[in-house]
Amino acid sequence: MQIHKVYFCGSFPSYNQTPDDGKPEFAFIGRSNVGKSSLINMLTNRKTLAKVSNTPGKTQLINYFMINESWYLVDLPGYGYAKLSKTKRKEFRNMIESYLVRKQSIVCTFVLIDSRHDLQDIDLEFLNWCGTARIPICLIFTKMDKLRPREREKNIKRLKDSLLEYWEELPTNFNSSSETAEGRDNILEFIQSYVSKLA
Ligand code: GTP
Ligand code: MG
Repeated sequence: MQIHKVYFCGSFPSYNQTPDDGKPEFAFIGRSNVGKSSLINMLTNRKTLAKVSNTPGKTQLINYFMINESWYLVDLPGYGYAKLSKTKRKEFRNMIESYLVRKQSIVCTFVLIDSRHDLQDIDLEFLNWCGTARIPICLIFTKMDKLRPREREKNIKRLKDSLLEYWEELPTNFNSSSETAEGRDNILEFIQSYVSKLA
């Protein structure tokens, strides 16, 4: 897919303030610092579209980016950021969950998982919540450039095996790196297949 036009549409504190023109939405979620905003920049080929930071908890609202005047990329705050107060974490969680459950135009939610680490309890908990709430998801294993060639296959297999202890089959999944643009074509092709069906 060629991305010829991209712009930031706004940041919203609640799903009922988000655009309601019915255009398909693809949401990006995952643990704080997993690389959501970087991935959005990589996919759109814009270095500073979504705010990237070394400090977890950078993204605090539901951020909308319009792509080719036909679909939205949605950057969500990370879950599980330990330094937030309990109240704030609960607020984020409610914001994310009501957006994911209620927003009818979400086509797919990409759940990002750091390829360097074992599956974290917080990821598992979120993925199980998606299952229970019947949220259609795909998985993206991020930061692949940080793995040595020999570790790549081993780490991904370990993550997939951990997930398969809970699920009968895995959702569609991709490996990605915002540094090398690994995964870009596959992810965009996947999105394109939905966008053209819905157009
Ligand atoms: P929050 O908005 O805080 O939840 O974080 P986020 O998931 O949006 O992560 P963000 O994209 O801000 O990236 C966090 C850190 O990881 C930054 O320092 C990025 O430069 C780095 N990073 C993200 N993706 C990659 C990647 O694919 N490879 C490498 N090497 N670093 C990455
Ligand atoms: Mg972010």
